Amino acid sequence: MRLLIHSAKQVVAITDQDVTCLPGRSMNSVVVLENTNGGVAVAVDDEGKIAAVGSTQYVRELWKYDDFDEVIDATGKCVLPGFVDAHTHPVWAGDRLDEFAMKLAGASYLEIHNAGGGIFHTVDKTVRCSSEELYQSLKDRLLKMLQAGTTTAECKTGYGLETDAELRLLQVLQRAKQQLPIEISITYCGAHAIPNCRGKTPEEATEIIVRDQIPQIQILMNEKLLPVENIDVFCEKGAFDTEQSRRILQAGKEIGLRINLHGDELNPMQSAEMAAELNATAVSHLEKVSTKGIEVMAMSGTVAILLPTTAYIMRLKPPPVRQLIEAGVSVALGSDFNPNAHCLAMPTVMNLACVTYGMNMPEALVAATLNAAASLGRGRTHGAIQKGRVGDLVVIKAEKWEHIIYQLGCHHHLIEFVVKYGKIVYSSTN
Ligand code: NIG
Ligand code: FE
Repeated sequence: MRLLIHSAKQVVAITDQDVTCLPGRSMNSVVVLENTNGGVAVAVDDEGKIAAVGSTQYVRELWKYDDFDEVIDATGKCVLPGFVDAHTHPVWAGDRLDEFAMKLAGASYLEIHNAGGGIFHTVDKTVRCSSEELYQSLKDRLLKMLQAGTTTAECKTGYGLETDAELRLLQVLQRAKQQLPIEISITYCGAHAIPNCRGKTPEEATEIIVRDQIPQIQILMNEKLLPVENIDVFCEKGAFDTEQSRRILQAGKEIGLRINLHGDELNPMQSAEMAAELNATAVSHLEKVSTKGIEVMAMSGTVAILLPTTAYIMRLKPPPVRQLIEAGVSVALGSDFNPNAHCLAMPTVMNLACVTYGMNMPEALVAATLNAAASLGRGRTHGAIQKGRVGDLVVIKAEKWEHIIYQLGCHHHLIEFVVKYGKIVYSSTN
């Protein structure tokens, strides 16, 4: 056996049902295990899967301490599932500090973007950077995410745009997937912006993606050289319109990718309606989603990935979170880590989700664990502490799990261990 955590004050299982997500109002509560006589234990087997969860007494009847490679005494502490970050853009060079100052002075995101800054600025810096440098900065960022409790992250490309540049970013992500202890779900986001260097029209850019980029990715996937899982598009005025987005996403779906797009963020684009029609796994942002869009997402089971860091930094009106939840949509959270929203920590994201989006703490935790896992096709295996699921765990130095959300920006003082597949991959004491 790989790991035993025993005597915990609380183990937040999230659910005790056989479910792959918690939609709508069912996000409102989480299953918390407590036991006044010796606390609660979690045992992880040699494959990194949870073998038992229950009272310390019960788990100790099944195994002796000696049966485990590592033992953590969690007396007075809480155990949560590892966080799943449903939306990140972690491979890029340079920064956009100057644009942050411009935005503070009143410039809008699309003004900067349309003037050739924003994503274009980052693309320019990224394509000039070596793969080794990109990998090293990616590694640094992913390890910081891990220290903040994220054990699985969705990671997008999108700062290459041209075919070779996008393929290179996919390869950098693949190296991270192979070498780092954080689990990565790779998303191809070649349709992040219209490449402006050769003055392409959106139609031409769409054509290149569908005729050139996606087929090349398909070949690499078929040869098992690239483990791409999801396809993304920035469906927005000034980027790809809804019909162009639909074409690109459909082409991605045909090569076996899950659809996971940026939609209805700055302008109402009917992205949610289009996503539901395509049976998309997830749509991110949704500040401008329509009532109809919410209804059809609930029906298609498309997960709404909300990104409170972005709305906060850009001072956007929040998405209709209560309406999404009331309609029965599964809501997930992501850090949206990117040069515009420089946040690596899901505890901060959960705090923002509660304070600025009006979610309660169980809803925020479900959104950062099980529902985020569902947005990455991992709702059966990740995001909850249940027998048979992966042993991805966070141990915090607090007697109530809610401290991880309540203590704004103080997660480093709280997180003692981060565990991936039953292995301790971060310890605050080392
Ligand atoms: O999710 N909207 C597109 N993508 C990112 C921003 C990327 C950037 O500004 O570099 C987002 O917010
Ligand atoms: Fe994004």
